[in-house]
Amino acid sequence: MAQQGNFKSPSRMGTLGEGAPLSSSGAVSAGKPRDEGLTGVDFERRSFLAKAVAGVGAVVAVSSLYPVVKYLTPPVKVVKSVNELVVGKASEVPANTGKIYPFNEDKVLVVNSGGKLTACSAVCTHLGCLVHWDSKGNEISCPCHGAKYKQTGEIISGPQPKPLKVYKARVDGDNLVVFKS
Ligand code: FES
Repeated sequence: MAQQGNFKSPSRMGTLGEGAPLSSSGAVSAGKPRDEGLTGVDFERRSFLAKAVAGVGAVVAVSSLYPVVKYLTPPVKVVKSVNELVVGKASEVPANTGKIYPFNEDKVLVVNSGGKLTACSAVCTHLGCLVHWDSKGNEISCPCHGAKYKQTGEIISGPQPKPLKVYKARVDGDNLVVFKS
């Protein structure tokens, strides 16, 4: 049968040389056991290198993770609470319309119904959808589950448990001002 691969036949072994001499115990005499001859200085160098590599790895890991964590963490937005605020121009809310403005932590729906300005929270007290002014029905309406409120925020119908929080609005020159009631 023909020889295949790296099978070492006795005849081929002759061409490969004697290899490393064996000691009487059978150990390789030309080599040293791994830790034999490891001096204190070598050991300290190896320990120092291991610590240095670990330190560099830690720095790289932290510097890589920091931007990811920073990106995933929402910024803390601090809203300064005020009693009244110029939210826009009076012309932005013509007769029989309503417009939503941010006010402190809330959103406020300013309604101009035939020149009568009112303001109440635009956040539905049912599940928090934003309401809008329905000029045909002359009421505030929630698109999510059909809550209806009066222009002044009181409940007309729907699943909402409470009326809308009431604010006030006035025109000051050209400006539209919302303030706490
Ligand atoms: S969130 Fe407005 S009715 Fe449900």
